[in-house]
Amino acid sequence: MRKLAAGNWKMNGTGADLAEIEALKAAHPAPSAEILICPPATLLARLSEAAAPAIASGGQDCHAAPSGAHTGDISADMLQDAGASYVILGHSERRSDHNEADADVAAKTRAAWAAGLIAVVCVGETEAQRDAGQTLGVIGAQLSGSVPGGATPENLVIAYEPVWAIGTGRVPSLDQIAEVHDFMRAELATRLGADIAAGIRLLYGGSVKPDNASEIFAVSNVDGALVGGASLKAADFSAIIAALETAPA
Ligand code: PGA
Repeated sequence: MRKLAAGNWKMNGTGADLAEIEALKAAHPAPSAEILICPPATLLARLSEAAAPAIASGGQDCHAAPSGAHTGDISADMLQDAGASYVILGHSERRSDHNEADADVAAKTRAAWAAGLIAVVCVGETEAQRDAGQTLGVIGAQLSGSVPGGATPENLVIAYEPVWAIGTGRVPSLDQIAEVHDFMRAELATRLGADIAAGIRLLYGGSVKPDNASEIFAVSNVDGALVGGASLKAADFSAIIAALETAPA
């Protein structure tokens, strides 16, 4: 399994920020971990060209339909045409800002697969759900509702992102991360079989920074990270990539 360092630029970045991609490429000419940047859609084509071949690119969302009368939306085919090989789906900001339910995420995942994209499906509990002891129940329901049949290591990545850790500087304890990641691996094994489940990369996301990346990457069943704020600057993201590349297998 090749580990994955994924950057989610969210609604940040214009042409000037392509310089960060050049810096990242220079710092990682032959990365052993896979590097992925998901910029805003307006930047995807230019970034894909600048990033290839060492760095992959992806979208941050797609519509479930391949085309049609959906003003403002973007299809998986369009992302693929703009150079993307991945798409983030079901991020908590999409779930909360756009009322995306698990069934919507599953439909988008099917659309992503039809376009040949790898789906990075996000799951995560709110702070209230964690305080109520519901974390594993919530994650299990999101996994079964958001991931359609037919998942493989080649078409699916899962990102565990506790909502309360995103953009807050707060991170779960390493034991809490291990508990959820071990649980997700077991859930996928029950559904897909142990061999397929073992190859699906499980990312942790939520306030991953250069100074906490190494300890997070040492946690069992953590195969990489989905990084927001710290992916915007090449120096920070590069340190996280380096931590991933030197983490225990
Ligand atoms: P953060 O965001 O690294 O800024 O906390 C992570 C994410 O939302 O993917």
